[in-house]
This record gives sequence, C-alpha cells and structure tokens, in this order.
Amino acid sequence: MLSIVSYPDRGEYGKNSYRGNCSGRLIEDIIEQYRLKGLSDFMVGSGTTEDVVKKLGLRGTFADLNRGYDMLNMDVPERAENIFWHPPYHDMIVYSGEQYSDKAVIDRYGFDPKAVDLSRCANWDEFVAKMNHCMMKQFSALEKGGRMFTLVGDMKRKGVLYSMLCDIIKPGTLEQIIIKTQHNCVSDRKTYSNRNFVPIVHEYLLVTKKDDALIIPVSVSIRQKADIRNLQSPSWRDTLIAVLKENGEMSLAELYDAIKDSRKASVNPNWQAKIRQTVQDGRYFKRTSRGVYQTAS
Ligand SMILES: C[S@@+](CC[C@H](N)C(=O)[O-])C[C@H]1O[C@@H](n2cnc3c(N)ncnc32)[C@H](O)[C@@H]1O
Repeated sequence: MLSIVSYPDRGEYGKNSYRGNCSGRLIEDIIEQYRLKGLSDFMVGSGTTEDVVKKLGLRGTFADLNRGYDMLNMDVPERAENIFWHPPYHDMIVYSGEQYSDKAVIDRYGFDPKAVDLSRCANWDEFVAKMNHCMMKQFSALEKGGRMFTLVGDMKRKGVLYSMLCDIIKPGTLEQIIIKTQHNCVSDRKTYSNRNFVPIVHEYLLVTKKDDALIIPVSVSIRQKADIRNLQSPSWRDTLIAVLKENGEMSLAELYDAIKDSRKASVNPNWQAKIRQTVQDGRYFKRTSRGVYQTAS
C-alpha cells in the first residue's frame, strides 16, 4: 500500500447500487498492510467490509442504521480488534429513505432511522458534533493495540470547503493519512462553469492507533473568530490596516478608541504614540486631512 491509492475496479463486494459505497479492494489492502485478524464495521452500508472480512475468514461484527443499529444512541454492539468506519459525507448522499426504506426499518426495529441518520443533519456543525460523538464511542470500543481506519471526504459549497478530515476529532496515535482517488462520482460527469472551482476527486483514509486504554491523546479542531487586535502575532501596521479597512477613514481619536480596549493596547504602555508613528508610513497609510487617515490602497 502506498500513501495514494486508486481502485478503478471496486471488486465484487458490497452493492454498487448503494451510493457512496467504497471499494472492497481498499479493505483488502488495509487487511494485508496491517496484517489484521479482525475488522469490524458499524456503518457497513451495503456490506462491503463484511463481504471482504468473511471471504478472507477474519473476525468482525457488522451493523448499520439500515439494519436497526443507531450509533448515536445505542452501545457499539461488540468490542473490536480494529474498526473500519466510512461515515456519510454530511448530506451529500442521504441514506435513510433514499438508499434504503425508512419504513422497513420502522416496521422491523420500531424506530425512525431518519431522526438519527448522520446524513440528515441540519447543518455542518451538527454533523461534526454527531460524527465526533460516533468517533469517540467507537474508539472507546476498540481493543488496546487496535486501529481505526476512517474514510472521510471534503465538500465544497458556495465557495467554502467543508473538510471532514480537518474537523473530525482524532483520538489515538495518528499513524497515516492515505489519499484515495475517487472513481465514478456524479461530479465526474458534470462540467463546471466556475473556473475557480476545483472538483474534488479524492478521499482520505485516516489511520489511528489505540496505544493506551485509559488516557489517550486527542486532537480536536476548534473553529472560532479571532479579532486581530487581540492577537499577539500581527504587527501594528497590519492591525491598523485591518481596523481602517473595516471602518474606512478614521481620525486619530477614532483609531485610539478602536484600539484602547484591545490586547494590543494593554501590552504597550505607549500604544497611542505607536499608532501615530505607524500611520506616518506612506507606503501603507494616507493622510486625507489633518489627523485623519485611511489605507494607502
Ligand atoms: C458512506 S455509507 C457506508 C458505505 C459502506 N462503506 C459501503 O461500502 O456500502 C454510511 C452509512 O452510515 C450509516 N449511518 C448513518 N447514520 C447512522 C447511525 N446513526 N448509526 C449507524 N449507521 C448510520 C448509513 O445508513 C450508511 O449506510
């Protein structure tokens, strides 16, 4: 196995008609590369992992919402030696009620899969929170020494990249990120009028290992807004340019007012003098009238 994999032929495993199914060849390669004796999949979809594991005579437990297992609210059915996890890519492909009958699940298992389907989250933040809950639940059910193989993708919507790889919580020792090129996606057949749009034709396989049972390293991505005035790194030039870009022309008094409560001012007793000095630099600032400034460009 190399750090980039490609499987134009998905093999005879799982069901081609189940959208978003993955190639059984990837599962074969994972098993061979990591010399696995057991591999479980609790979002097994059309059964790709199960088919490979059974064909090779390995151990494993398999479940999915379409078989009445809800990972959000139920315990992981069995402790696992290793886990392959291929969650939905947010709402790119909706599963319950589209790839399988929600009514059949209600009749057979007594609950509506649509209410707990990860592919039916109302927004990205809800999806990430639920995905991360599922990650920690599965990682906790993993035997010490075991690995999680998590297949995730990125989505582009209205110019914004929503990256599962960036936002997913990463418990355990990060061992490998493998890029898997995609084949036969709906996007392959589309033409894009927006020349800035780069079609996404790859996914990532994240390989993490559980080296300890109780205390585990966890890497989390936090998205928040930062006010440049309160950061340590930006220079006075860049801070004042940002303030002026936001507000347009400003007098010195207005600039003082915009800065006075910030961290930038609190760590420099001569902050007003620093502002006066900085706006004198004609490469970046322009004086429009006495004591009034704007950015030079
Ligand atoms: C990308 S598909 C997996 C495809 C699979 N690897 C295959 O090759 O067919 C994601 C699966 O997650 C399942 N799923 C979504 N929400 C779930 C939940 N709360 N509990 C268990 N499974 C869930 C869906 O039913 C769907 O089958």
